[in-house]
This record gives sequence, structure tokens and C-alpha cells, in this order.
Amino acid sequence: MPTVEFLDAGQQVVCGQYANLRKTAMLHDVEVYKGVWQKLNCHGNGLCAKCVVEVVAGAKSLSPKTIREHIRLRGAPANYRLSCQCAVLGDVSCIMAPALDAVPAANPVKA
Ligand code: FES
Repeated sequence: MPTVEFLDAGQQVVCGQYANLRKTAMLHDVEVYKGVWQKLNCHGNGLCAKCVVEVVAGAKSLSPKTIREHIRLRGAPANYRLSCQCAVLGDVSCIMAPALDAVPAANPVKA
């Protein structure tokens, strides 16, 4: 069973293989969103880019980046992910959005 360490929350939790990172955080009362985005987020659909997580260790223990992540996190550091788009495959250490100085703005999709 993979272990996820939420460094900013000081929590280390065990989750199931392929567990969603955002849901794992929420299940253990780890804050996922900053401020008003706790209410105004897209509820895990990869659209708002407010569930950003900085992966400190174990990046290869997460599922590959989705197309939505490539679009929404354009210009962000390579170790930033959208927690709602990540399946946990192994041990990971991360920092959630409320503890990050800058959360990338959602990049609108251009037609
Ligand atoms: S919850 Fe909106 S992008 Fe993850």
C-alpha cells in the first residue's frame, strides 16, 4: 500500500493503489485549496487548477500527467501536478496548494 506524505500538513497516510491524490488528502482533512477556492473549485474535473500540489519526492509514483494538466499547468514548475488528476501508484511526498506561494492561474483553452 502506498504512503503519501503531506509535508505541509505534517501527515503521513496510507492509501490504496490507484487512489486519487486529491481525495486522499480530503479524506484525511488535509487542505487542498486556498481560501475561496475551497468552495469555487471544479470538484476534481481538472478545470480550475486550484488543487495544485508540488511533488517533492516520488514523482514517478504518480500516474502520468493528463492532457488537462499539460494545459492547465503550462509554465508551472515540472514538479507541479493537479492532485485531482493523480493516481497514487507508490510512495509520494508533496506540498498542497495552501502552503505554496504561487498557484498557477488556470490557462484558458484556446480554440
Ligand atoms: S479540482 Fe479543479 S483542477 Fe483539480
